[in-house]
Amino acid sequence: MDYKTPTDSITIMTDTVLPSETNTLNNLFGGELLARMDRAASIAAGRHAKRIVVTASVNHVAFTRSVPIGSVVTVEAKVSRAFNTSMEVFIDVWLDNFESSEGKIKANEGVYTFVAVDENGRPVKIPQLKPESDIEKERFNGALRRKQLSLVLAGKMKPDDATELKALFV
Ligand SMILES: CC(C)(COP(=O)(O)OP(=O)(O)OC[C@H]1O[C@@H](n2cnc3c(N)ncnc32)[C@H](O)[C@@H]1OP(=O)(O)O)[C@@H](O)C(=O)NCCC(=O)NCCS
Repeated sequence: MDYKTPTDSITIMTDTVLPSETNTLNNLFGGELLARMDRAASIAAGRHAKRIVVTASVNHVAFTRSVPIGSVVTVEAKVSRAFNTSMEVFIDVWLDNFESSEGKIKANEGVYTFVAVDENGRPVKIPQLKPESDIEKERFNGALRRKQLSLVLAGKMKPDDATELKALFV
């Protein structure tokens, strides 16, 4: 079996926030951040699959903290679980902050799903993922229920078949 680790796909993109990318409160426009997250996540998915990848779903995005003009924004994406042809990618968004001990603060996070496809857009099999750190293992373990939730919301799975998701509530 061909295994990869989350570190094999890690993708880190740092950029600043320009006036043309902000809303009327001078904070980063949400769609601009989503695009940066999608770009980093698609590179991470491509590094894992070594194939063409397409965004199948934006499963979750939490805009916890606003991002003011001039901020230095780092978007870090890693594959958190690989299924058959699809994979979940976690994206952590950090802001430089010289007053914090780490030198950065967490601003947002998101979870996207990508599918590896051939030249004709048909889904193709991808390598499996072996998580290493505690957080990688936690994200790996939760990925199946997030996939089932995403499929249910997209009308591609019956709620009754979402066994892993249902187990959360019973
Ligand atoms: C994503 C896409 C390839 C899926 O094609 P499909 O015919 O639905 O293929 P399948 O039903 O075989 O699904 C393929 C995989 O994607 C997963 N998937 C499909 N839709 C999903 C969703 N909404 N959420 C989570 N996973 C999803 C399936 O579970 C399956 O995963 P698995 O093989 O790992 O078990 C196809 O819908 C597509 O090309 N969409 C457009 C993508 C695009 O252009 N994105 C950019 C938007 S601008």
